[in-house]
Amino acid sequence: MAKKRIQEGLTFDDVLLKPQYSQVDSRRQVSLKTKISPHITLNLPIISANMDTVTESAMAIAMARAGGLGIIHRFLPIEKEVEEVQKVKRAENFVVEEPFVVEPNFTLRKVKELSKKHDVQTFVVVNKERKVLGILTKRDYLFEKDETKLVKELMTPRSRLIVADRGTSLEKAQEIFKKNKVEKLPLVDKNDRLLGLITAKDILNHLNSLAVRDKKGRLMVGAAVGIKDDYLERAQELVKAEVDLLVVDVAHGHLDACLKAVQTLKKRFPHIDLMAGNVATKEGALDLKRAGADSIKVGVGGGSVCLTRIKTGAGVPQLSAVFETKKGAGETPIISDGGIRNSGDIVKALAAGASAVMVGMLLAGTDESPGEVINWNDKRVKIYRGMASFGAKMEREAKIKRSSGENFSMTDFVSEGADQVFIPYRGRVEEILSQLAGGIRSGFSYCGAKDLKELWQKAEFIKITGAGLRESGLHDVFLAN
Ligand code: XMP
Repeated sequence: MAKKRIQEGLTFDDVLLKPQYSQVDSRRQVSLKTKISPHITLNLPIISANMDTVTESAMAIAMARAGGLGIIHRFLPIEKEVEEVQKVKRAENFVVEEPFVVEPNFTLRKVKELSKKHDVQTFVVVNKERKVLGILTKRDYLFEKDETKLVKELMTPRSRLIVADRGTSLEKAQEIFKKNKVEKLPLVDKNDRLLGLITAKDILNHLNSLAVRDKKGRLMVGAAVGIKDDYLERAQELVKAEVDLLVVDVAHGHLDACLKAVQTLKKRFPHIDLMAGNVATKEGALDLKRAGADSIKVGVGGGSVCLTRIKTGAGVPQLSAVFETKKGAGETPIISDGGIRNSGDIVKALAAGASAVMVGMLLAGTDESPGEVINWNDKRVKIYRGMASFGAKMEREAKIKRSSGENFSMTDFVSEGADQVFIPYRGRVEEILSQLAGGIRSGFSYCGAKDLKELWQKAEFIKITGAGLRESGLHDVFLAN
């Protein structure tokens, strides 16, 4: 047998960043801007994982608003995944191109159903010719108990509405809101037919935020596809819905079939940014880049609910995976995916060469992740699970095979993820992201870096021992609660 050389692999806890001379006096001087693909620059280097307990539209909206990005998972029928992308695209745009409408004879019950289904509270009231008859906002029906009441009895009628034409600029809309003390501005043609809607809230969000937006001012969003079955059709529909980033998502991305899928997708949709993974080696990154990936997702087996390393023996400790893949990726951005537990880990991943991190566990316990908050042993928790877990796989197979009438068997399936774990309920994701951003900024400042480029140049790692690691955490004290 040929002599095998054993490489050393390090991860976050094996190292610290050396504090350095710094001219960064305040965390506010640090820019967290990062380019993750040709057309996407984030203001916060955090991406929420494409997992069914982490990212659907609510998470993606919150992530993009905070300056990061959400990737809608692919374990949904195509039309549902597209719908999630559309919800993000509609969430806030200075002009809502196709506002939700109701007819004057709809009952309040029907309006409430529509409100729940589409997650909106304002409806423009139109007739069959889309002529504007009024507007119905939450204030009009919030305290109304009689659900048989009709829209026309509750709405603010056209005679009391301020409207504007389609070409209304951002500045003009602000003026109208200020002068008339209104918050919604329907856009109409000369025959009063509805052409759009501007809301004061969207303008404020638009003006004051770190939000990551497309050219039309809508929030950006990514969506995952696989490499088999319906992946091309799925990608096609997502592109039609104007998704900003396609993410080829497979556990072992250095697979011939994955490289071929990346090539095909890049050829079919040359103008859409394409992220692909996961890989953990220089060769894997190089091959994905040559196949056409615009950014590369890095990480095999390091996620909090991953069992890949246990079940297969394969993987690379995450920090070494970032160092190695960076060598193959060169200028192509890499995203460190999995194993992030705190802002310190994020700074280390970035300092090693990543352009952003992808996180699951840290965000799974928030209001914005799919699933309910449940009580477990007097604690409030949410469920998190690996996408390669038995349960997740079984649910997918059951949906596909049942719809085609086939029987399915799981005997060949080897689970590489934890089925269901509980994550403490953590409230709004915005707060978690703001805490993480603060920690990252401080981390940059300790390294003397005012932005990512400087961090890459200046950061120096020190390998530590078990004793060093113990010293890094709380020690020799009792927690008061
Ligand atoms: P964290 O540590 O943030 O990791 O929870 C999220 C990442 O974990 C990966 N992932 C899996 N890996 N088996 C695996 O080996 C699984 O079932 C599984 N599900 C998710 C994925 O890369 C995700 O972004």
